Amino acid sequence: MNVALYEKIWMWAAGGLIVAFVATVLGGAVGSGLQPPSHVETIDPTKVFTDPQFGHPSVTLGPNGTTVVSFGMMFAFNPAVIRVPAGKPVTFRMTSADVTHGFLIVGTNANTMLVPGYVSQFTTTFRRPGEYLIVCNEYCGLGHHVMSAKLIVEEEEKGATP
Ligand code: CUA
Repeated sequence: MNVALYEKIWMWAAGGLIVAFVATVLGGAVGSGLQPPSHVETIDPTKVFTDPQFGHPSVTLGPNGTTVVSFGMMFAFNPAVIRVPAGKPVTFRMTSADVTHGFLIVGTNANTMLVPGYVSQFTTTFRRPGEYLIVCNEYCGLGHHVMSAKLIVEEEEKGATP
């Protein structure tokens, strides 16, 4: 089969694009640890406030890492300030009490949608201590632009045995 040079160039260019696209997905998943959050657990959005877990939003330090239970509502996150230790896995369990909100911790790979009726769960580790801004990145109404919270990543205790 005789393929013209011009055609060969386009075939290689198209092949190269496919390789680049697959590499982008793999780079994000493996290199940056980006994972789609789970959306398998359901919750009645009208009962978030009385739910045994989400009725008391909390940050729990456990032997296998920290668990943050939190929810979004128009137009705030509850709790508004979250403190977690640096360098240890943190599992976020989140939902929404009304409409769909976003949950993005700026400068990190923590980013999920808070969909009413579902529990979004993901685990990540914050290496750099400091203060991080949390914003809602799904348009949720007139107060969307003021919907924010703060994450404080605290230095690991010095001298603690691993
Ligand atoms: Cu909540 Cu936008």
